[in-house]
Parts: sequence; C-alpha cells; structure tokens
Amino acid sequence: RRRVFSGIQPSGQITLGNYLGALKQFVHLQEEADAYYCVVDLHAITVPQDPKLLRERILDLASLYIAVGLDPHKSTLFVQSDVSEHSELGWILQCNAHMGELSRMTQYKEKAEGKEHVSVGLFTYPALMAADILLYQTNFVPVGEDQKQHLELTRDIAERFNNRFGETFVLPEVLMMEQGARIMSLDDPTKKMSKSNPNPQSRIEMLDTPDAIRKKLSRAVTDSDREVRFDPVNKPAVSNLLVIYSLSADKSIQTLESEYQGRGYGEFKKDLAEVLVETLTPIQERYTQIRNSGEIQDLLKQGADRARQVAAATMERVKRQVGLGGTT
Ligand code: AMP
Ligand code: TRP
Repeated sequence: RRRVFSGIQPSGQITLGNYLGALKQFVHLQEEADAYYCVVDLHAITVPQDPKLLRERILDLASLYIAVGLDPHKSTLFVQSDVSEHSELGWILQCNAHMGELSRMTQYKEKAEGKEHVSVGLFTYPALMAADILLYQTNFVPVGEDQKQHLELTRDIAERFNNRFGETFVLPEVLMMEQGARIMSLDDPTKKMSKSNPNPQSRIEMLDTPDAIRKKLSRAVTDSDREVRFDPVNKPAVSNLLVIYSLSADKSIQTLESEYQGRGYGEFKKDLAEVLVETLTPIQERYTQIRNSGEIQDLLKQGADRARQVAAATMERVKRQVGLGGTT
C-alpha cells in the first residue's frame, strides 16, 4: 500500500482553508493508503508560543482530526515531538540542505518580513519538514498550494542524500486539490485564508458558531457586477466563494452558476452560510465529545508507538549510511 504523510501546525484555530485544502483529502486517503497524520508541534515553536496554550492546541487539533473523520484505527495519528526521530533526522537533513535554497523559501520570507527577531528554526524549518516526510518513506503528501515549494525542496534534499550516501529515501510526490488548494480570505481575495491573519473576519474557523459564520459571510467582499460566475481573474472574490460552496455542498461550480443565475450575491451568500453551518455543525458536535472524553491522549500514545517503529527503522539506516554512531 502507498504511504501518505501530512501535518498541520497547532498554532491557531483551524480554518475552512485548512479543511478544504488539506484535511478533507486526509479523510479520503485513509481508505486507500497507509496514512500518517501528524500534529507538527515542533514546527509551531519556530515562532513564540505560550506553553500552556500550545499544549491545549495540540489536543484540540488532534481532536479535530478525529472529528472530521480520521479514524485512529485506519490512520496513524500522532504528535511530532512524541517521536524523537523527527528532530534527529531534521538535524542530519539540515546538514544536507544549503543556505541558498532555504533562503529562497517564500513562506520564510513572508514570515520573517518586518520582524526584529527571527528564530534560526524558522529558517531551517523546511529541513524538519523534509525529515517528517522522508522518515516514513512517503509516496504522497496531501497539502495546500502554499506547501508546494517545501515539497520540491524535500525531493531535492532526498535526491542529494541518496546520491551522496546511497539509496535511502523514497522521493515523495505532492497531492493537491484541483480546486481548493488555495482558499482565499473573505475580506481580500488576493490573500490566502490564514489562521494567523490578525483580522478574524478574513476566515471561517472550524469551530465558528452559526451566527459567526452568517455574519462573516454577509460581510465577505464580492465583485463589482451582480453575477454569480466563476472567473478567477476578473471576479476573484465570487470565484473563491464558488469554490468554497462547490467543495462544501459537493456540487459542481457549473451547477451552482446556473442555480444562481440572475439571483444576485445576497441570496448566494446566505445559502452558502447555511451550507457551511450544515457542514460544520456535526463536526463541531463530534469535536466537543472527543475533546472532553479524555481518550485523546491514549489514542495519541498508540499512534506515536506505531509511528516510532517506522521512523526508527529509517533512522537506523540513515545513521549507518552517514557513518554516525559508536555502539552499533
Ligand atoms: P498550516 O495551517 O500552515 O499548518 O497548514 C496546514 C495545511 O493546510 C497545509 O497543507 C496547507 O497547505 C493547508 N492550507 C492552509 N491554508 C490554506 C488555504 N487558505 N487554502 C488551502 N489550503 C490551505
Ligand atoms: N509546513 C506545513 C505547513 O505549514 C506543515 C508541515 C510540517 C507538513 N511537516 C509537514 C505538511 C510534512 C506536510 C508534510 O502547513
């Protein structure tokens, strides 16, 4: 069976963008692949985090994984820092990554811009991400479009390592949604929807109340004419809402265009709000139940034990290839 690996940072409230771009794919893939889904807490600390809050967010995100339909008996769900091989391989890959290629990462440039203090970890982060993926000999990595560059770097590092030390890593391939790989902000369709945007009106969060969802949608920007038509270049705001609608209601964009012909934006946005309420309410109910059940830590422990077996086998091979260690 094909191996799948992906991760999400526990660094804020998960958005509809994370869901439609990444999480929804995770759920489909667990049926056909040997899937590993990680809460990447070591990535979250590349920027300052409050320790108490971070702990809570790790458990929140793991609960959300299960609430959206990930089944801990089908997929391996775990927390990155519970499997120390991630840090270990991360270091070795840092020693095989180049300053130049890391300097070109757009996510780094965006996150570092205008900051007085930038951690070294924020810079070397793609080497840790490469370690996450390569430890599991991963074939496919489902992610949103913003991670494509990191995936290409992962392949470059893996190839370089294999050439230098002999065949060690499988070269992973990116798996992106045709639509939905880049869900845009509700207040500005030129920016991606992001959990770190200071304006909460810019995004739908997975745990937003029905009222919040309705308000945010009614305030979402639209384009100048009144036509509900998919045209990302000339009508980026409405096109983004059409993608969200299409993925959430499981209807094609064409069907939606004809349904809303001549009906204007008001009705369209109202209906979309109800579709989102219907999608998110059952997820939120399961979430509350799981989060309060006290079972999540046990499940994560079992997940980490399974992940560690695979990770340790890769790590042993890596150390041998590189010539590391003194006792074996
Ligand atoms: P992050 O929130 O950066 O940990 O991202 C977790 C996953 O969600 C990654 O696969 C991202 O590519 C994906 N993602 C984040 N924001 C969006 C968005 N606005 N549209 C689509 N996918 C996204
Ligand atoms: N860098 C990813 C993000 O910010 C999160 C991530 C870390 C990841 N390790 C990964 C995604 C491995 C896929 C595979 O969204």
